[in-house]
Amino acid sequence: MKKLSAALLLLATTAYAQPYDNSMTEDAIKKRIAPVGAVYFEGDKAAVAEVPTGPRTGEQVYQAACFACHGTGALGAPKSADDWAPRLAKGADTLLNHAINGFNAMPPKGTCMDCSDDELQAAIDFMTKN
Ligand code: HEC
Repeated sequence: MKKLSAALLLLATTAYAQPYDNSMTEDAIKKRIAPVGAVYFEGDKAAVAEVPTGPRTGEQVYQAACFACHGTGALGAPKSADDWAPRLAKGADTLLNHAINGFNAMPPKGTCMDCSDDELQAAIDFMTKN
């Protein structure tokens, strides 16, 4: 009997001494079996740092979507003023149309799928003036 009560005492004290909550309440169990990390998917509201409140500037769109190709010349994307000159000669409407719908290796909307036409135009203006 002495041994049993000693064992029970030990069990009770170790259980209380631990900061770890090993009770069998639903909350405690959920905490114990919760995954260590969390995965956020694109579009998850919680993971989105800020919700845009208005149209982005040409520079913002350019930096976020166009720079990957137009800042580096990747895939033969026009980069410098010399590259742009013959394209500007096609007229602003054609350039905007190609930016919206894509043109050869130029992807539709330049990969900025949530860009409005105005935002794309602003990005073109920014690119062709810088
Ligand atoms: C994946 C690479 C890539 C991205 C990202 C990209 N572009 Fe392009 N873009 C190209 C390539 C390549 C061309 C040249 C296509 C050709 O002339 O065959 C081009 C051409 C253009 C042209 C000229 C079209 C013409 O008629 O000559 C415009 C305007 C343009 N891009 C706008 C944009 C805008 C605005 C963005 C960002 C919102 C963007 N692009 C993002 C690759 C890209």
